[in-house]
Amino acid sequence: MSTAQLINSIREKSNATDPCTRSNYFQFKVDDTELTLSVSFDRKIISGSVKYHLVNTGNADEVILDTRYLLIKDVKVNSLKTEYILSEPIPIYGSALHVPLPTTIDHSSLIVEIDFETTDKCTAIQFFQGDTGPYVFSQCQAIHARSLFPCFDTPAVKSKYTFTGKSPLKVTMSGRPQETSEPNTYVFSQPIPIPSYLVSITSGNLHKAPIGPRSDVYSEEPSLAACKWEFEKDMENFLQIAESLVFDYEWERFDSLVLPSSFPYGGMEIPNMTQLTPTLICGDRTQTKVMAHELAHSWSGNLVTNCSWEHFWLNEGWTVYLERRIIGALAKQEYKAQGKSEKEAAEYGEKVRHFNMLSGWNDLKETCNTFNPKFTKLVCDLTNQDPDDTFSRIPYEKGSFFLFYLERRLGGLEEFDPFIKYYFRKFRYQSLNSSQFVETLYEFYEPLGKKNVLDSIDWEKQFFQPGLPEEPHLDTTLADEVYAYGNKWVEFVNNSNNNETADVPFTEADIATFQGGQDMLLIDYLVEKFRKCKVSPHLIRKLPDIYPRYATSKNGEIKSRWNELLITNGKYTPEDQLVQDFAEWIGHTGRMKYARPGYKLLYNGVSKEFAVDTFKKYRDFYHPICRTMIEKDLNLA
Ligand code: BES
Ligand code: ZN
Repeated sequence: MSTAQLINSIREKSNATDPCTRSNYFQFKVDDTELTLSVSFDRKIISGSVKYHLVNTGNADEVILDTRYLLIKDVKVNSLKTEYILSEPIPIYGSALHVPLPTTIDHSSLIVEIDFETTDKCTAIQFFQGDTGPYVFSQCQAIHARSLFPCFDTPAVKSKYTFTGKSPLKVTMSGRPQETSEPNTYVFSQPIPIPSYLVSITSGNLHKAPIGPRSDVYSEEPSLAACKWEFEKDMENFLQIAESLVFDYEWERFDSLVLPSSFPYGGMEIPNMTQLTPTLICGDRTQTKVMAHELAHSWSGNLVTNCSWEHFWLNEGWTVYLERRIIGALAKQEYKAQGKSEKEAAEYGEKVRHFNMLSGWNDLKETCNTFNPKFTKLVCDLTNQDPDDTFSRIPYEKGSFFLFYLERRLGGLEEFDPFIKYYFRKFRYQSLNSSQFVETLYEFYEPLGKKNVLDSIDWEKQFFQPGLPEEPHLDTTLADEVYAYGNKWVEFVNNSNNNETADVPFTEADIATFQGGQDMLLIDYLVEKFRKCKVSPHLIRKLPDIYPRYATSKNGEIKSRWNELLITNGKYTPEDQLVQDFAEWIGHTGRMKYARPGYKLLYNGVSKEFAVDTFKKYRDFYHPICRTMIEKDLNLA
């Protein structure tokens, strides 16, 4: 098969257009978009108007936009008030807004203006009482932007934007703040073309503090100092390392916003205003890699974008790959600062990267064992699927391991690094699919005499086979310390035969030298091993006294694993304090990474009724996306 045939065959195996939009996006080019959003805290809605400057490249006689649970008030084309049709809604994708083009005008370039309002069914925004006043924020990825404003809701379409936010409280949106003298009005410009899912608005009692020469962090006043402390050590370092891996940061400033606790994700890469969960503010700087991840999206995702959610690995797989490169490079820097040689430091940096990859590999194994195999492919068919339902660690981990595999096969870091720069430069400001990725590999490596390496890769298997890929060879130095200790536990459990009076030969001093990630790995390892070796609930209930550091940790990564270990094995009941504390924690933690497995743990490990009752008690606190997912998880939908 020739290279051209190969590229074709990969392309033909996924949808030619984005199946998750009902718009006719492929017939237009969007030159510019003006979006005004006005927040009403009283009515708990956002009203707005959007003005699209379109070039009709596909000879279309109508413009079709996505909407979902939106009220459309008025439509104009080239200033002429126009009749429109809102199609019957379909559950996942919403109603298509059909705007026929008036026959009296020239159809080649158009200005389409729409006035609209969100409704109480809007899935993109959440209104609530913040710590110091009313608060609203949006979350549009993957296909919720259509619930905030009528749009071509596909990552295949990009546009420059001017945003105007109106609210009695401070507003942030996805761009650079501009001067304005109008009261209660905030204007932002986004000169780099971005897709609809990166459009965002937040309004509340927001304050800011500097965390780097080109970075501020925003939050409500009471947590501002803690937010600043958590990130100020790493922020500019992350930026400079990322710039040396890819190329200069193009967005001018990298600011971030720590949201209230109902924020459903760890982070979201809103251009110029990354959103972060408050669970990162744990006072030990162990969760800053989420910041590195969102920063890496400035290149992978925001400059270079997947053309549909079927190719989501191009966003998240690349981002995890870069995130781990950044974390490895930072470890190298810190080791060097301790006086180690360049070579030693580089080796240590790689060990740290590999340690992080190992935990990713464990996540990938777990997901492949438990998730619908249809969605464990690197490239999925999303026809008639809700991207929220197919979301998992797969695009993240399978994607980043695919890149790691290529890095190795193509000759290691030295050979792969120039490709990173080439790829991101080639596709910046664009959206692409997986076949264009392969095409670019050939374009870059063929002249370097590596066509044979690429020819020997089974692309079909890499992209379309479900389940685990070939196991990567990882440096396990840092993990081995953890495994050796964990194995002592396994041995003890096997030998003590669950004798309740046996002395437990473990104390917290054993793990005094463990660093952040090693603690998590240990608990994960014990979860996995105890599943197989039937440990007595009596012994499990001694654990909090043996490891008070874990039992009292405020860090969500520890808390979630620790409770999994105890609740799965300790035969706890709803009356136990441990269960009540855990229930209360997930009742106040909207980050889905913790809340969803938390409810499943209560459901399977304590009782179905208790899980459902707990959820009902806290239901209103959760973001609509999170609420829906938990309802599905608990079979309440
Ligand atoms: N873009 C994602 C969050 C997202 C994905 C929102 C899909 C909606 C739909 C963000 O960059 C992300 O991956 N966040 C992770 C952070 C982690 C991998 C460091 C998260 O939320 O856990
Ligand atoms: Zn991400």
